[in-house]
Amino acid sequence: MKPSSIVIREVMLRDGLQNIPQFIPTAAKIELFRLIAASGVRNMEITSFVSPKAIPQFRDAAQMVQAVLKMKPEGLEVSCLVPNLKGAEGALENGMRKLGFFMSVSESHNISNVRRTRSESIDELKKILELRGKYPDMDVKVGMPCVFGCPFEGKIKPEVTLGYVRQFYQLGLRDIHLHNTRGLGLANSLAAYEAGIRIHDGAVGGLGGCPFAPGAKGNTSTEDLVFMFEEMGVDTGVKMEALLDVSRYFQKVKKDVRYSSSIIEVGVPVPRGAISKDGSEQKWSS
Ligand code: COA
Ligand code: ZN
Repeated sequence: MKPSSIVIREVMLRDGLQNIPQFIPTAAKIELFRLIAASGVRNMEITSFVSPKAIPQFRDAAQMVQAVLKMKPEGLEVSCLVPNLKGAEGALENGMRKLGFFMSVSESHNISNVRRTRSESIDELKKILELRGKYPDMDVKVGMPCVFGCPFEGKIKPEVTLGYVRQFYQLGLRDIHLHNTRGLGLANSLAAYEAGIRIHDGAVGGLGGCPFAPGAKGNTSTEDLVFMFEEMGVDTGVKMEALLDVSRYFQKVKKDVRYSSSIIEVGVPVPRGAISKDGSEQKWSS
């Protein structure tokens, strides 16, 4: 990969939908998948193998995985989220090989999210990794919510986070993702880019958030992320017009959806034409 390019990981179908209590029909999710792939996104989280009692939105996880794998998305990496061994087995049995495990670096948030202590979550991860015997081509990444602070415990010391990063690294994990939910997403992505990070998470329309973290209102809008990086001359591979089709389509599926994205709100800059002092109307009065 050229140094001036990044991969956008689109998480709308997973993180973006998990905060929406009404079940979005599987056919609409598949159409969203098709539109997102058509925009040029090369990495996507498509669902979550979680307890349907905890998050009813993903009760169609198996159907989603089967439908998406049948579409054989060329050059597109698809993955799904799993909180425990049962979820990992469900994903693998349905043909998925890329799994996203997650463990909050805050003990309180981890208990709120998955009803497990951090050490219980790590034991669960080790059991998942034992499945490599049966599925040698499986690949696990880990997401770490709350690295910059927790809605229950406040600040989390960087040493705590780094200690867990080290543990995950020792377990052989190489894709370790820091979850972000507040308004500093773009600033964090920029800082991460400058530190050498080349995979950046975003969700169409800034949708999402964690139902088990009070105040976690969403993700960085993919539209804003693509705009920022492309303006910097960093190639994302994503075509903005095609990407905007995704939010337009979802607006029809879920009429009351509220996006949080500057690009969706005001669009990309389009010059209206120069104004001369004479002979030109006052554009702002129209
Ligand atoms: N997929 C489907 N069902 C699952 C499951 C999974 N991955 N894990 C557990 N279950 C089912 C069990 O079979 C059991 O069902 P039953 O009541 O019909 O027997 C029930 O859920 C309880 O199982 P248990 O192991 O006691 O789970 P729990 O109630 O302690 O919940 C989690 C733990 C992790 C399964 C649950 O908290 C969860 O799914 N959380 C999702 C959190 C999330 O996605 N957060 C957002 C990410 S940022
Ligand atoms: Zn999330």
